[in-house]
Amino acid sequence: MEKYLRKHLLGLQPYSSAREEFSLDSTNYLMLDANENPFDTDYNRYPDPYQKELKQVVANLKNIPPTNICFGNGSDEILDLLMRMFCEVNQEIILFPPTYGMYEVCANINQVKVVKSWLQGDFQPNAEDFWNKVTAQTKMVIFCQPNNPTGNLLHEDFIFEVLEKFDGMVVIDEAYGDFATTESWQNKVETYPNLVVMQTLSKAYGLAGLRLGMAIANNETIGWMHKVKAPYNVNTISAKIAINQLKNYDTTVWETIIKERKKLKESFQEIAWITKIYPSEANFVLIEVDDANLRYQQLLQQQIVIRKPNIKPLVSEALRITVGTPEQNERLLKAIRALVISK
Ligand SMILES: Cc1ncc(COP(=O)(O)O)c(C=O)c1O
Repeated sequence: MEKYLRKHLLGLQPYSSAREEFSLDSTNYLMLDANENPFDTDYNRYPDPYQKELKQVVANLKNIPPTNICFGNGSDEILDLLMRMFCEVNQEIILFPPTYGMYEVCANINQVKVVKSWLQGDFQPNAEDFWNKVTAQTKMVIFCQPNNPTGNLLHEDFIFEVLEKFDGMVVIDEAYGDFATTESWQNKVETYPNLVVMQTLSKAYGLAGLRLGMAIANNETIGWMHKVKAPYNVNTISAKIAINQLKNYDTTVWETIIKERKKLKESFQEIAWITKIYPSEANFVLIEVDDANLRYQQLLQQQIVIRKPNIKPLVSEALRITVGTPEQNERLLKAIRALVISK
């Protein structure tokens, strides 16, 4: 995978942090190496730059080696890191819109050109259009699996085709993967050295406030990510809380969310102004309505906030609704049922 790195990085002398050379495990040592404040506040010491304990917990949970994980301050940091590692200014990435908006924003921030291969009417990529858009400047392709905001899974055959034939990095963002019916791509990182799978603790694990996202990739890619990332990118409190939460995490809430998703979809079918309900493998549902602006405002008046993604022309009047708790969904449905058809 080194051949895909930005060339100047090959000569990088990475920063060697104090807590990398000597961790805090050695309690009898007098730590006078990192210019920390010596008076104990519980947080006066820098965190472990490699989050070893957290990685072990996550590795056990996901049944992957801890050496295949790099944590970021949310997967948004991972995304930024990947662009900085693999894309020079003015080089290109290919996205499959409509998709998660941060891919494009992050590319714009890094002066990386975004080439769009739009999903078709069935929210699937068009292989011919994609391959026509690949040039010598295309350094990265990002799949969102399941896709946000459409909620569906992209066809695996096409992802395999890209992994096999595309001469660059392939990122598969599985932010919503725990709600889906397919297997993760995490176990393919040894087969495909150009594959980086992004996952997050923000969605299924309910820890969005901690800002913990991760890349899963082969050891070589992870080694480079560790060299390029800021040394202390994950703070002590987030790592500590995540370790405790994950050790006791009850994944039956995923079943509740999936059951509630089904209930919402069934209830939406009875609403005359909801004209289409799209299949979802995530914790949200995309619907087409008679007038997205109107319905959005009407729900807002009831203090219910949903999302109004602009995904024209694929869906001209689209709303995206996150699946809530059973009580929250009841409140939503009550408000939705009270809204009459506008014409
Ligand atoms: C597809 C996708 N990827 C990544 C993220 C961001 O995840 P994190 O909270 O880990 O930065 C989101 C958040 O909405 C998302 O929809």
